[in-house]
Amino acid sequence: MEELLLETINIIDAPKHVNETVKIGVWLTDKRSSGKIAFLQLRDGTAFFQGVVLKNIVGEDVFDEAKHLRQESSFWITGEIHEDTRSKFGYEIQVQSIELIGTSEEYPITPKDHGIDFLLDHRHLWLRSSRPHAILTIRNEVIRATYEFFNKEGFTKIDAPILTGNAPEGTTDLFHTEYFDHDAYLSQSGQLYEEAGALAFNKVFSFGPTFRAEKSKTRRHLIEFWMIEPEMAFMHQEESLEVQENYVAFLVQNVIDHCASSLEILNRDVELLKKYTKTPYPRISYDEAIEMLNKGGIPAKWGDDFGSPEETYLADQFEQPVFILNYPKAIKPFYMKPHPTRDDVVICADLLAPEGYGEIIGGSERAVDYDYLLQQIKSAGLNPADYEWYLDLRKYGSVPHSGFGLGLERFLTWVTGEDHVRETIPFPRLLNRIYP
Ligand code: 4AD
Repeated sequence: MEELLLETINIIDAPKHVNETVKIGVWLTDKRSSGKIAFLQLRDGTAFFQGVVLKNIVGEDVFDEAKHLRQESSFWITGEIHEDTRSKFGYEIQVQSIELIGTSEEYPITPKDHGIDFLLDHRHLWLRSSRPHAILTIRNEVIRATYEFFNKEGFTKIDAPILTGNAPEGTTDLFHTEYFDHDAYLSQSGQLYEEAGALAFNKVFSFGPTFRAEKSKTRRHLIEFWMIEPEMAFMHQEESLEVQENYVAFLVQNVIDHCASSLEILNRDVELLKKYTKTPYPRISYDEAIEMLNKGGIPAKWGDDFGSPEETYLADQFEQPVFILNYPKAIKPFYMKPHPTRDDVVICADLLAPEGYGEIIGGSERAVDYDYLLQQIKSAGLNPADYEWYLDLRKYGSVPHSGFGLGLERFLTWVTGEDHVRETIPFPRLLNRIYP
């Protein structure tokens, strides 16, 4: 009778059930025991906490069973929730009974250190460990807060296709595929479709996977990554920069407010994160950036694109993220608006994250003149026929418009303090890695 009344809960809700007897479905992550007491480290997917098994309470048989449980075996656990001020989580369960669900073979990921290749080979299991769990919990919060931000600001979500005939970011890193009798690519960016969307819905955004067949093996590059791409009609670049800084500050604030325990697991300095919620962010021009680099002893020629050492040096000069404005036209894509008084730069900005995490946003005001854009498409070596639909946007009521793309995984490396983008996506696609 008592069994029937027992409430089944998740670990995350333990604080609401102090001194109550509850039932929880769990896996074992680690254990240690002496003659009379066993400590079981438990997880249920919502949080991690400890189960305490006392021989004199549960009796010899249950105590013996607890002592011999293998890592990652699954079971129902029944017991009383107590406060535990010594643990990070703050609560534990005083175990009364254990009901085995699934046994576990020798689990490959033990509490000792493993090499990164071994962990990536076992990503399907590694997801269960506390660090990946914390990072992906923060990823989920950033996605949730993204929808909240753009909904409150009056944006409509317009989904861009994944299979496309267009190459907005250049032809060097395209994933080619066949589309019946046509050539097609996996999307590098939803931007061109968002521009069509902005002219139909005013303020739009997309959130989807994007693909770059980049042969680079750096800590900032994924082959498949997720991008949030807002696009705003009747908007110049200055206003777009305000949307960008408000969006980034909003995301950081929400991570601070809603992911305290995940940030603690990752040892992320929250006081530092708080600084990033202050807007406006500083803005410097590309020209000023070149000057700054040379003064700092980092050789840089006007016309160079910035790599990791340059971005890190520039970002280190500021306490907040910094916008670098108006890059040389020659190193940027075809669709950016030309500068009104200079023909060597375009109206664009990259946002660099502090602490050496590099570029997290790329954006620009878009070229609106039909003839200019047609010329740009030709000089980029693209076939104008494939861009006829895009050029139509400049034929029928062309308006100033601006947009940007935030790389979700780049943003997450910064906020979580992780070294490598591969840890911020559930199943990273990297050079030479498509399993699991
Ligand atoms: O600067 P990117 O290439 O800009 C675009 O694709 C524009 N069409 C966006 C727009 O204006 N709508 O990429 C934007 C962001 C970068 O700042 C970076 O955060 C991320 O996408 N990114 C990558 N993230 C992980 N791996 C890669 N290989 C990435 N390439 C870009």
